[in-house]
Amino acid sequence: MNPDLGSASFKADPYPFYARLRRESPAHRMRVAFWLDAWLVTRYDDVAALLKDTEHFSNDVRSKLWFVPRRLRLDDHLLAADPPDHMRLRTLVSKAFTPRAVELLEGRTQRACDALLDAAAVRGRLDVVNEFALRLPLTIIAELLAIPEGDRLPFYGWTKRVAAGASGAPIHFLRAVPALWQGVGYLRRLVARRRREPGDDLVSALIRAEEAGDRLSEREVLGMIALLLLAGFETTMSLISLSTLALVQHPEQRRRFQAEPELTACALEELLRYTSALDVGFLRRAREDVTIAGVTIPRGATALPMVGSANRDEAHFESPDTLDLGRTPNRHLAFGIGPHVCLGAPLARMEGRIALTTLFRRFPNLRLADTPARWRRSLFFRSLARLDVLL
Ligand code: HEM
Repeated sequence: MNPDLGSASFKADPYPFYARLRRESPAHRMRVAFWLDAWLVTRYDDVAALLKDTEHFSNDVRSKLWFVPRRLRLDDHLLAADPPDHMRLRTLVSKAFTPRAVELLEGRTQRACDALLDAAAVRGRLDVVNEFALRLPLTIIAELLAIPEGDRLPFYGWTKRVAAGASGAPIHFLRAVPALWQGVGYLRRLVARRRREPGDDLVSALIRAEEAGDRLSEREVLGMIALLLLAGFETTMSLISLSTLALVQHPEQRRRFQAEPELTACALEELLRYTSALDVGFLRRAREDVTIAGVTIPRGATALPMVGSANRDEAHFESPDTLDLGRTPNRHLAFGIGPHVCLGAPLARMEGRIALTTLFRRFPNLRLADTPARWRRSLFFRSLARLDVLL
């Protein structure tokens, strides 16, 4: 009954398993990775309630990370913070991601998108993941943080290995330690350099930050930068590449996407729901015994909000496994809900819209190459490692 939730083959199609859990065991206890025993919460209403419930659940799960040496932990971040600390941290960065701030990034995003696709047009083929979907959001978030161009791709190599390391068996973690070491070391040097030579970027702003007389600690600065960087490209990369795959696999929906520009905003929400780039939400630790779907989750145990499952819950969405770009209403949980709702949602929507509309407008005949799509090992993300298309 219990598959390896982080494996590439599971991520390729987790939905039959999720459907079975929603039916038979909606709060299901299982060993998720070598370091994590958790209750998987899979029904839409329960996932939404869990995501909102800061009274009975805490996001401070540092005690679960016993296997990571303290120097390598970047666990003082927004997602791991509870109220009222959480609000203090969120206020410090929220200005950078308001719809207004994101609007100002549109021109830059379109130019970066055009440049990537110009290069692809010359080649006539494209690895959608590594040559496009990764690079666009990585460019934008790295520019916000003023991370030099040459340092960006190595960072992706590290996060890919660390994401794989957090899933499955101890061997996966051990393999990821050098990458974790390199990534954390890089961020520490970046912060030290910005301390000496501040600029007008987000890292310098965080270092300077004093909100209500409250400076961020060194660990909080590091945690915040790591989270923004990781959340800023990993999930959007998946949204763009998984949506490309979904559209190519559903010719009728793809025709609508290409022929009806007024449908774009609605279509994007459906692609967010259908792809669920963040398949598993952040860990929630029960502050006391809590009952979900008739099951008692004991104090101290971990519950996992299974966002990908909630987005396919038949009790909430008609024909949930059907991609329907005109779906309304569409109250998906792809960005979460409640106090931790995705801070970068306006940015992700803007990047996703520009990437997908430009890709399918410029290459209306885009089709899959012979090489099959490859999936990635990761517990939390649902991601492709590679997706080759002919333009
Ligand atoms: C398609 C793209 C994205 C998806 C599907 C996504 C999804 C999510 C979800 C589900 C959560 C809530 C997790 C939970 O409560 O357990 C979240 C939180 C967060 N996301 Fe995103 N995200 C995306 C893009 C971005 C981008 C571009 C950024 C920009 C930097 C970002 C920054 C964050 C941050 C900082 C949080 C934590 C907020 C808090 O704890 O208050 N995300 N995201």
